[in-house]
Amino acid sequence: MAAQDDYMTLTRVGPGTPMGALLRRYWIPAAMSEQMPEAGGAPVRVRLLGENLVAFRDPEGALGLVKEHCPHRGASLAYGRNEVGGLRCLYHGWKINAQGSVIETPAEPPESTFAKRICHPSYPLHEAGGIIWAYMGPPEHMPRFPRFPWLDLKPPHLLVAKIYQATNYLQGYEGDLDPAHPNFLHRDLDVEENASWGGAGWNSVLQLMNDSTPQIHCEETPYLFRVAAVRRSRAHNMKYVRIFEHCAPFYSYIASGPHEMQLFKAWHPIDDNSCYTFYIHFDPHKPIDAAAAYRNWGHRTSPPDYRPAQNIENMHLQDRARMHRNFSGIDGAALQDIAMQESMGAVYDRSEEHLGISDKAVIFYRRLALRLLRDMEEGKPLPGQDSELDFIQRGAACDIPDDRPWQEALRWQEQYERAHPASSAA
Ligand code: FES
Ligand SMILES: [Fe+2]
Repeated sequence: MAAQDDYMTLTRVGPGTPMGALLRRYWIPAAMSEQMPEAGGAPVRVRLLGENLVAFRDPEGALGLVKEHCPHRGASLAYGRNEVGGLRCLYHGWKINAQGSVIETPAEPPESTFAKRICHPSYPLHEAGGIIWAYMGPPEHMPRFPRFPWLDLKPPHLLVAKIYQATNYLQGYEGDLDPAHPNFLHRDLDVEENASWGGAGWNSVLQLMNDSTPQIHCEETPYLFRVAAVRRSRAHNMKYVRIFEHCAPFYSYIASGPHEMQLFKAWHPIDDNSCYTFYIHFDPHKPIDAAAAYRNWGHRTSPPDYRPAQNIENMHLQDRARMHRNFSGIDGAALQDIAMQESMGAVYDRSEEHLGISDKAVIFYRRLALRLLRDMEEGKPLPGQDSELDFIQRGAACDIPDDRPWQEALRWQEQYERAHPASSAA
């Protein structure tokens, strides 16, 4: 049963838990910029890593993230007045600034000073790429903000979708660590519908359908680790290699082919039983077809809760009459993933599972994450935190000659892109 205990260790994200402490050592998504469009606008409730918080953009535009409940008697600051210098609680007028200091207690006599000693939990925020990111760890361990290369892109070169999922974040992230499932779950069964991936800018997905038993390779990197899925190619003497680059603590560049729009996935663990996924589609060279992306992934949702209409109660609107055209009977790759992951329950009992060869990357990651917990405990450096890292990473999906090592796939892809500039690509 040790394996299940270890798994549970990786799923618990609240304050004082080992994984909660590891995740708090990184900048993680807390909200979408669109949730706080105006300076001085309504504060937003944020539940992140099991903590109830409230985020706000003050009338001068500065961002703050503080514990939701007022340090006086616990009224929610989400109802508060958003004033210059902080949030003012409606109940008795206490004012709390973005650093967590209580700066006014108007119902107390002027000589009262006890509130000055209160330290209300607060966390720094950073806004980039349409996302508001939080750092919830010890100030002395705050890493540099990771300069992901897509952060400076704007629509139509950037499309960020956020979607709720009623499972532990790890149950979701393990889908990103599993290159074997698309041959089944994401398969369209007729040629016409397969074109939906092309419409969304991902013709390369069609190639993986050629071989449902990829060889999976994993190797650790300074960012976290890299996964390769190597399949037979339709082309003579070639193999089809898909590379997934993972960056700590739970970011992934999903494999994508030459000149295709890229996908960066990020997670927001709400608590131990629920999360949001961020799908960040980007293409520096050409505009994204947002309608096609929404159609293909099915992840169009809206604030405040970003919940899809499809959920476990309605069996994700699975339509068995469509199963002759689509393997799952569920439309949208994101919803197909959510359906399988929610169908397990919020946190599955891993002592009941039977891992095979195709689960190699899941096994690799679980071991790696447990080691990182020990490394953190021992004060060792953590991946993705070396200040020398440039965060220039990407996935790849291309044919390379059979006799070349899979590690060369990205180089081959970039060579192909140089030889066939985007303007001449299909
Ligand atoms: S509960 Fe907030 S000021 Fe009293
Ligand atoms: Fe998937």
